[in-house]
Amino acid sequence: MKKQFFANHWCSLLLLSSTIVFSGCDKPSAPSGGSAAGGASADPIKVGEFASLTGKEATFGQSSHEGTQQAIDELNAAGGVLGRKFELIVEDDLSKAGEPATIVNKLIARDNVVAVLGEVASSRSMEAAPICQQNKIPMISPSSTNPKVTETGDFIFRVCFIDPFQGTVMANFATKTLKAKNVAVFTDVKSDYSKGLAKYFKEGFTAAGGKIATELDFNGGDKDFKAQLTAIKSSNPDGIFVPGYYTDVALICIQAKQLGLSVPIFGGDGWESDQLVKIGQDAVEGTYFSTHYAPDVATQKSKDFVAAYQKKWNGKSPDAMAALGYDSAMILAQAMKTANSTDGQKVRDALAATKNFEGVTGNTTINEKRDATKSAVILQVKDGKFHYVETVNP
Ligand code: PHE
Repeated sequence: MKKQFFANHWCSLLLLSSTIVFSGCDKPSAPSGGSAAGGASADPIKVGEFASLTGKEATFGQSSHEGTQQAIDELNAAGGVLGRKFELIVEDDLSKAGEPATIVNKLIARDNVVAVLGEVASSRSMEAAPICQQNKIPMISPSSTNPKVTETGDFIFRVCFIDPFQGTVMANFATKTLKAKNVAVFTDVKSDYSKGLAKYFKEGFTAAGGKIATELDFNGGDKDFKAQLTAIKSSNPDGIFVPGYYTDVALICIQAKQLGLSVPIFGGDGWESDQLVKIGQDAVEGTYFSTHYAPDVATQKSKDFVAAYQKKWNGKSPDAMAALGYDSAMILAQAMKTANSTDGQKVRDALAATKNFEGVTGNTTINEKRDATKSAVILQVKDGKFHYVETVNP
């Protein structure tokens, strides 16, 4: 059930390192948590990661983990920070509510991690955040966009934009590009992300003069959406906004098509998965969604990342979650360097002071709410691929 990707061979890696030779490799599991003891310790810096490596949103966790692992490996290849290497302890939360709390408690209490990276899905980040906050362990969500995630407390950060922005981006896109005037909204009531994004979209769209044709709910994991889609059809909308995750969205698009609904369907970052197209096939052709990153608009830094990622992960191209996962680990490492410590409070303070960090997803500045202000990109599904449409700046 649980997968752990301990850096089992850290001792041998250290011994292979041409720069420094450490002693103490015979006790790799000596607790390092909270040891702000300064001084070079041979113990690795333990960082926990919780991710949906399996289950309903498996591609979220896998992508995010691959980006995170790549950053950790690059950091370690360059000698780590504070004279110590990183040990990434990864746990699978099965895409299930209840698991993040169990896992993060274990990462902190048993593994003595000094920081936590995760999750992608907002509800799962919100479950873990109070535990990190209570234990004064900095947590960075790479890609959870619901505002409540970081509102949990001053140890909780994210390196992405939030949904009030994303909702406005898609509201403006609906108004200006799709020329929609009467949009139906179809919300997953089991997901904080979906509920929040639906709300912010509605606010933005009505503020721009649009009307909400109707609002319907589903429960993430449902298989039959026909009753709600029939109600949506009879409301005669000129667009349908679905702030959901890819598995549900693909089925919704298939069933909408079967019911003869031919108006544009669009959504947010939760759509981003190669599974969207694998499941949805031609039913998702022409749809649009907003997200955080597109390899098309690459800086040199991003181009290097794409090349290294493809090399490491069998030719796979990085998506937004991979890129944000990578940046989250790099930003954490930089904060430890700046703090000259792995102590929770000191790393927290350094994270809060992050300014203009040049990452693969652009420049990250952490604002006073511990969120990042960043551009969004809009992608369209065309010929089974995601095509870059435009960038929207904050
Ligand atoms: N923003 C989504 C959430 O908060 C997660 C997500 C991020 C999904 C990036 C895909 C890409 O739940």
